[in-house]
Order: sequence, then C-alpha cells, then structure tokens
Amino acid sequence: MSQGRLDGQVAWISGAARGMGLGICEAFAAEGARICVADVDEELGRAVATRLEKRGVEAMFSRCDVGVGEDVRDSIAATVERFGGLQNIVNCAAVGATGYLHEMTEAQWDRLMAINVKSIFFSIKYGVEHLTKHAHSYVVNIGSISSFVAQVDTPAYTTSKGAVLLLSQSIAVDYAHLGLRCNCVCPGISDTPGLQSYYSRVPEGDRILGERIKRVPLNRLIQPAEVGKSVVFLSCEESSGITGTSLTVDGGYTSVAEWNADAVTQNPRQDSREDVSCD
Ligand SMILES: NC(=O)c1ccc[n+]([C@@H]2O[C@H](COP(=O)([O-])OP(=O)(O)OC[C@H]3O[C@@H](n4cnc5c(N)ncnc54)[C@H](O)[C@@H]3O)[C@@H](O)[C@H]2O)c1
Repeated sequence: MSQGRLDGQVAWISGAARGMGLGICEAFAAEGARICVADVDEELGRAVATRLEKRGVEAMFSRCDVGVGEDVRDSIAATVERFGGLQNIVNCAAVGATGYLHEMTEAQWDRLMAINVKSIFFSIKYGVEHLTKHAHSYVVNIGSISSFVAQVDTPAYTTSKGAVLLLSQSIAVDYAHLGLRCNCVCPGISDTPGLQSYYSRVPEGDRILGERIKRVPLNRLIQPAEVGKSVVFLSCEESSGITGTSLTVDGGYTSVAEWNADAVTQNPRQDSREDVSCD
C-alpha cells in the first residue's frame, strides 16, 4: 500500500462540505488522513463524508457552526472519540459580506467576525490539548489575498482575513514549544460555489469576474485542489521548518501593481523590446 504524507493523521476540517474546504478534504484523503468534515451544511457535509468512506477513507461528518463555541467544542470532541486523537486542524469555513461599514448592522459585523475569526480561537481552545499530545501537530488557517490588501466594498471580510493572518502568527509563536506549527494559506480568486454564487447575483457578474481574472498573471481562477496541496504541505513534516508564515496561492495576483493579460498577449516581447546582445 502506498505511503501518503498524512498516513494515519486525524484532521478536523471546517467548511469542508464544498469549495475550498472540499478541495482540502480531497487532498488530505489522497495522502492517507482520517477526516472529520465539519460544516453547518448537514446535507452536503454528510454526502462528502459518505463519498470518502465509499472510497475507503476513514471519514465522519460533524454538524458544526464554527461561530458557536459549544459546536466547535463538541465537534472536536466527537472527532477525538471516533478516531482516538487529533493531529490537524484546518480552519477553512468563512463567510463574506459586502457593503460599506455605515450600512452594516452590529449583528452582521459580529456574526462575520465570529465565523471567520473567533472560530479559530475556539478551535485552539478546544483542540490544543489533543493536538499537543503528538510530537508534531499542525494548524492551517485559510486567509485570503484580503489578508494583505483591501478590496472594494468588503471591509468586514478584509478585516477578518487580516486578523486570520496575525492570529496564525500568534498561535505559531505561543505553541511552538509544544511541537505545534501554525500557518496561513492565502488563496486568490478561486473557483468555488461561494465565488460563483456571488458573481451570479452581481449585475454583469460574468463580465466583472472575467475582467478580474485578466489581472491575474496566470490568467485563470485558482482551483480548490491547488489550495488543498498547499495545505497538505504545511500539514506534514515536509514543511518542518515553517511556522507562522503565509503561503499565497493567487496566481501572482498580489505580486503586481498593474497587470492585464490581454495587453501582454497583444504585445509580445519581440515587438516591444530592442534586442540586447549578451556577447
Ligand atoms: N473563493 C475564493 O475566491 C476565495 C478567495 C480567498 C479566500 N477564500 C477563503 O476560502 C474559504 C472557503 O471559501 P469558499 O469560496 O470555498 O466558500 P464556499 O461558500 O464555497 O464554502 C464555504 C463552506 O463553509 C461552510 N460554512 C459557512 N458558514 C459556516 C459556519 N458558520 N460553520 C461551519 N461551516 C460554515 C459552508 O456551508 C460551505 O460548505 C474561506 O475561508 C474563504 O474566505 C476564498
């Protein structure tokens, strides 16, 4: 039987019923992990766990609203009870919100922060005693390009993703002596149901998304499987020296201030540059 990089490791993955979380689940399953699919969507989440089990992966579903402390506590406890331990936490569940600050209600702000940020606090509060029973344990939090730069009309989301990055660094520093490493994976514009549903509601959403993709040097959406591979790397001893860092998976989006894929394909280098001799 082939050796996976996560053979035998037990992973609790939030937001795993679809999108990025599902991509992470698939990547963990391919590397031999045992998985708890923790999600608020019972129907989709249960279906994911059942599909994994049919393929011989040890998996379970746990209904969990990550913004509610008791849910996270009980979900992690159920995972430990089923698999006998816990070595990985991936905090992926999050929600977006659009609108200027003065248009948001306090309740909307608090709920978004609970799901996107407080959830990570809960996962450590209730998970750390189990994680640190192992010589090596891993927490990966899903940030965003919004962990680094603001985007229009999403102040609460941007604030939450900035916090995810700094919280990851704090966790890394505080628990390093217990063998726990914590890192943040920051995806760019990614092909998920969450993104598709947002652009289906926006007037001219297809055109706007198409324009945004042209500003990505790789000139395409990021796939959840690509994010999954990055999370696996940070969840095993291949990345043994890495903690408290961020890994941006954005096709180059945050590496350039100005970019337009059309302009590049219309202006090949030989047309716009003089030859330079290297003799
Ligand atoms: N899609 C993108 O372009 C993009 C870019 C950067 C970062 N991200 C991040 O990736 C992660 C996943 O995004 P996605 O696009 O796959 O989203 P998605 O909406 O497609 O999936 C989100 C999943 O989280 C679950 N969820 C939502 N609220 C929850 C709660 N309170 N408790 C438990 N589960 C809950 C949903 O049921 C769903 O299964 C998020 O952290 C998001 O911020 C996404």
